[in-house]
Amino acid sequence: MSIDLSAKIPNNVDLDRDPKLRRALEAWQPKYVSWWKEVGPVGFQNADIYLRTAVDVGAKGWANFDYVKMPDYRWGIFLARPEDDRTIGFGDVAGQPVWQDVPGEHRAALRRLIVTQADTEPASVEQQARLGAIAPSLYDLRNLFQVNVEEGRHLWAMVYLLHKYFGRDGRDEGDELLARRAGSADKPRILATFNDPVEDWLDFFMFTMFTDRDGKFQLLSLAESGFEPLARSCQFMLTEEAHHLFVGETGIDRVVQRSAEMTRADPNGDAFRGGAIDLAVIQKYLNLWFSSCLDLFGGEISSNAASYFACGLKGRPHEEKFADHLETDHVKQLHLVQDDRLTIKEIAARLTVNEDARDGYIKDCERALAKWNRTIHEVGVTFELTLPNRRFNRRIGEYAGHHFDPRGHLISTADFTRMHDTWLPTAVDRARVRALQTRAVTKPGEFASWIAPPLRGIWGQPLDFEYVRFD
Ligand SMILES: [Fe+2]
Ligand SMILES: [Fe+2]
Repeated sequence: MSIDLSAKIPNNVDLDRDPKLRRALEAWQPKYVSWWKEVGPVGFQNADIYLRTAVDVGAKGWANFDYVKMPDYRWGIFLARPEDDRTIGFGDVAGQPVWQDVPGEHRAALRRLIVTQADTEPASVEQQARLGAIAPSLYDLRNLFQVNVEEGRHLWAMVYLLHKYFGRDGRDEGDELLARRAGSADKPRILATFNDPVEDWLDFFMFTMFTDRDGKFQLLSLAESGFEPLARSCQFMLTEEAHHLFVGETGIDRVVQRSAEMTRADPNGDAFRGGAIDLAVIQKYLNLWFSSCLDLFGGEISSNAASYFACGLKGRPHEEKFADHLETDHVKQLHLVQDDRLTIKEIAARLTVNEDARDGYIKDCERALAKWNRTIHEVGVTFELTLPNRRFNRRIGEYAGHHFDPRGHLISTADFTRMHDTWLPTAVDRARVRALQTRAVTKPGEFASWIAPPLRGIWGQPLDFEYVRFD
């Protein structure tokens, strides 16, 4: 299972023993590199960045830290070690051995699941491409690029599956993944959130907090898959993803800390005057990103999700923690809109597996929220950030097409329109955030006024370490 980093495509999947596959991936590699150069991080391509590179898939010492220029990053294909005698843990096929190959009857569905997951990886790199120019510190700049190169590697992980298991169709999908563009009108990325603009660093921290966290829950669900190569690929991606979530969660915490400090310091409680972001504006960004990311779990009632579950293609995050892995005779209570009123309905459990995943996600977000509120409290400011109700501002599922306030009450379109600018970021809010982020802070150990320094550096390095070296 060791990884040869000197190989043209670093991998632990015995690529050398499959020359046809290796040639196909080697033909895709230059297209990937041109995509990276064309729509990946703007600037900094010649800078030396203190990055970690995967060198193993074991629990201990799987990564190496060193200076790397981004285009020279060793993107590769790494699968977690196989488990002995693994069986499928859910659905109608529970207890059966996992599949090493794609069952013919599930080919289309599996391809769709893999392509949808894969599409988010390059999309996020495109969305974040312009942030380097306004980075708040070298530490943060390095973290941005670490996230970017690893999202690129996640694309490699998925393209490997497409090439190896889906023949011609898979190779075509691999090319399409480099052809779609985040935010494009003609060829957008598949999921709406991955076309949303990421214009400033508050967006970036919200993205790595909420969107990457959706990614974590999707990967956890796919890591349960009966299709073993997909499960093992997602297991290793989760190892890298943990850092992205750390960047988001601690990033918001650091922004919140500085906001609270400046709110306290200003006689009118105006954090912007002290060079920080107003807490009320942070709340609006949070409302926007949290609601957008809830859509990524799909509809509350989903026959697609039910069939993926039944067939063993996609489970629920940490399936082993659920009491029932078949879900043939339970129901789940959902709040649904009927005749302009919210009513509770009982829905067959398999149709609501998306909601099980969403429940876990919301719980995880609530834990982070409590931490941010402790930070505000410790500074001595009376303000509480909240997560909006799951029905607020949705574009997909049962609540799309209706309006709810952040507490989840059904309201009229007129009321929503009237309150829109109080609940969600306005052009003015965005301009005020951008006014604080007009240039990159590139002196080691310095941080922009709107963000507190982190508690510690990366990989034991000090805060004033030169995380990015310019040529
Ligand atoms: Fe990813
Ligand atoms: Fe990520």
